Amino acid sequence: MNSFKSALTRAQFGPDFQWGVVISSFQNEGAHDIDGKGRSIWDEFSSRKGKIKDKSHAQQACEFYYRYTDDILLAKRMGFNVFRFSIAWARIMPKGTGEINAAGIDFYNRVIDTCLAYGLAPCVTLYHWDLPHSLQQKGGWAHRGIVFAFEEYVRVCAQAFGDRVKQWIVVNEPFGFTSLGYMLGVHAPGKFGLSYFLPAVHHVALAQAEGGRVLRSEVKDAKIGTALSCSHIIPFTNNENDEKARRKADALFNRLFIEPALGMGYPVDAFPLLGRIERRYAMWRDWDKLAFDFDFIGLQNYFPLVVKHNPFMPIIGISEVKPKARNVPTTALGWEISGDGMYQVIKQFAAYAGVKELVVTESGAAFPDLLHEDAVDDHDRIQYFQEYLQGALKAKEEGINLTGYYVWTLTDNFEWAEGYKAKFGLVHVDFTTQQRTLKSSGKWFTHFLHAK
Ligand code: NOJ
Repeated sequence: MNSFKSALTRAQFGPDFQWGVVISSFQNEGAHDIDGKGRSIWDEFSSRKGKIKDKSHAQQACEFYYRYTDDILLAKRMGFNVFRFSIAWARIMPKGTGEINAAGIDFYNRVIDTCLAYGLAPCVTLYHWDLPHSLQQKGGWAHRGIVFAFEEYVRVCAQAFGDRVKQWIVVNEPFGFTSLGYMLGVHAPGKFGLSYFLPAVHHVALAQAEGGRVLRSEVKDAKIGTALSCSHIIPFTNNENDEKARRKADALFNRLFIEPALGMGYPVDAFPLLGRIERRYAMWRDWDKLAFDFDFIGLQNYFPLVVKHNPFMPIIGISEVKPKARNVPTTALGWEISGDGMYQVIKQFAAYAGVKELVVTESGAAFPDLLHEDAVDDHDRIQYFQEYLQGALKAKEEGINLTGYYVWTLTDNFEWAEGYKAKFGLVHVDFTTQQRTLKSSGKWFTHFLHAK
């Protein structure tokens, strides 16, 4: 139930608050093999049989590669002042290192210049999951060499775009892509097991900090952040075992990448298995290198999680009590809707002494969205945003330095292993004609963001 009743206004968030809308390269661009772009692990993975639920691929996706001017204009018309997008590493460096593809640099120059011309601040994500396939052939994130390749790539981007891009996100949801891609095998590159997951976690944590350092040295006035997925974790019962399960889940879902970045190391106290990372990499003496003084931490909260002790679950010994079993409201993907969950994670991350500023760098929901007479009445999404915005506002009003809220996402796009069926956009896309239609939620934001 919506526990936040009062009407929201933009003014409540203050005049300097950033209102962003977000897309990502693989999910939106299409043009998968155009102008010298190299292959990414997602090009590879989505071409394998049975990996994408609706059997689709992202070779065309939203054709953002060709339609960026119109799409950025849509964002501007709705009243957003930040446009967050990611760079496809393989468009800039087709093999991941070495040769630079001028056409790729040129494309992102045009995107950046269009944002600036429309008065939107470009916020660039350096890594949103589309690793060059050639680097995966050398082991990808599970191989230490990736950290040096990443530094090289970040330097190229910083030097090419740093004169105009002042806000940077080094990696997007490190727990998301390491767990889904290197532990569970349901995302690219489709690897599973601890022997992939633990090294991948460590190399991503290192790359997160090293990438930050490269940006700091190349772009003097950059505002540098990282974007972390997070979920408020609730134990199913008050018993000791479920409380332990809560602590374990919290270590994985919330603490795994923020704590090394803050110089606190991995959360081994709550999840001793992570001690294996410390033992395996002891000889490298990496521990100080995991820390970086980020200017802001991006939070991406979609749902809370209720967990319980489950000794039969291999490795983690916990399981989720699904929203269905608890009879709570959910989105089309079965994710629990909870504005209070948003409030709780903001509070949790703000409590770290080293966190200076927080930005909600993604927030959004999938709903069925039927196009009827050139309109999509996505009432459920409007309600969702009202509830999540209230959660964010409550935290801000308590004095937390929350400086922005970015919506996932501008247009319906390729939702990874879900394909196109899971629709998150404020703008509907007909993928046969590429026709864009502003949904009611897009109209709601237009009204909300233009009101005084
Ligand atoms: C997280 C990811 O950053 C984005 O790529 C994805 O589409 C949304 N959340 C929704 O699942």
